[in-house]
Amino acid sequence: MAAGVSLEILDLRHFAAPVLRPVLDAEGELWSKRLHWDYRSSARLLMQYLDNHLLPGYAALEAGQVTGYTFCVYEETKAVIGDVFAMPGRSPETAESEPEPEREVEETLLKHLFETLLNSPSVDRIESQLLLHPSGTHAEIFRASGFDLYRRLFMVQPLAGHWNRQRVEMPQELELRAWRDDDLNAAARLISTAYYGHPDSLINDQYRSVNGSMRFLHNIVRYSGCGVFSPHASHVVVDRSTRELAALVLGSRVSPQSGHITQLCVHPKFRRQGLARKMLLVAAAHFLSQGVSEISLTVTEANAQAIELYRSEGYDCVHTFDAAVWERR
Ligand SMILES: CC(C)(COP(=O)(O)OP(=O)(O)OC[C@H]1O[C@@H](n2cnc3c(N)ncnc32)[C@H](O)[C@@H]1OP(=O)(O)O)[C@@H](O)C(=O)NCCC(=O)NCCS
Repeated sequence: MAAGVSLEILDLRHFAAPVLRPVLDAEGELWSKRLHWDYRSSARLLMQYLDNHLLPGYAALEAGQVTGYTFCVYEETKAVIGDVFAMPGRSPETAESEPEPEREVEETLLKHLFETLLNSPSVDRIESQLLLHPSGTHAEIFRASGFDLYRRLFMVQPLAGHWNRQRVEMPQELELRAWRDDDLNAAARLISTAYYGHPDSLINDQYRSVNGSMRFLHNIVRYSGCGVFSPHASHVVVDRSTRELAALVLGSRVSPQSGHITQLCVHPKFRRQGLARKMLLVAAAHFLSQGVSEISLTVTEANAQAIELYRSEGYDCVHTFDAAVWERR
């Protein structure tokens, strides 16, 4: 927030998309710089919702200009805070030691959203993963409002140069094949089994049930909720005896150069046989053949085994962010 300028916080539904365009463009630049992520398709989707005045949230206004926004979406009794962002506002005269002005605007926006959600009796759970914001950025105000925080890693594997194609051999009883649309139900069953008692099911309650996992999958596969779904990079391992899924990897394109692993899991019965490693190799080979030069993924800091796997496959942590969860007690 610039010195001497007053900040107004208004309902996001008052605003049509063009007014927010400069903010979304500035945010897009940061997504691209920090995460190599093309934010344009997410921004287009947001603009459609804005134009239909459907997005619950708040806009920050300074001197008549929208300089920031936050929004949430509702899933039955859960609210998911989708984003918070304010235009970078540090002037050349501002001392490095002073708090970044955009951070203050973002915190004011979040406080308004928290107040609305915490006072809505129909909301009994709030989740948020602000991927763009480095871990710790808004930790204090999340904690002060009763949220638990979980640090997550954004890891990247460069494909160009050092990645070699390898043949993937499968045991006789398992079949590895590309993802098909009719895998959705079996994939939802696998996800809810694989994440039983897992730290990620504390962060995302969709993982705790088959129905919830189905919603997660619909968002990833049908609605490109995390980049554009890539059916070529996505694979499943089928147990030939039961026709159930033993493992799956899902991939999407987040920019022409960057692939993203949106899901990797192995049924507990089939763990420690190298399946996850093989799934990563297969996804990487398909991404590489599509001209992708790096693959990213996110993983919870508490998931030490998965981090060990990713490190050994050449992934490095390039960014950390926080997942936040609040539950009505
Ligand atoms: C993480 C997960 C995908 C690993 O699947 P997997 O098929 O058992 O993994 P692999 O057999 O390919 O193991 C690869 C490496 O991961 C690490 N690893 C996997 N499971 C481990 C365990 N239980 N203990 C220690 N290290 C482990 C090891 O480094 C292992 O290499 P090694 O066998 O040569 O020592 C599986 O445990 C799972 O589905 N977990 C729940 C879902 C999940 O966490 N997904 C990742 C979200 S980011």
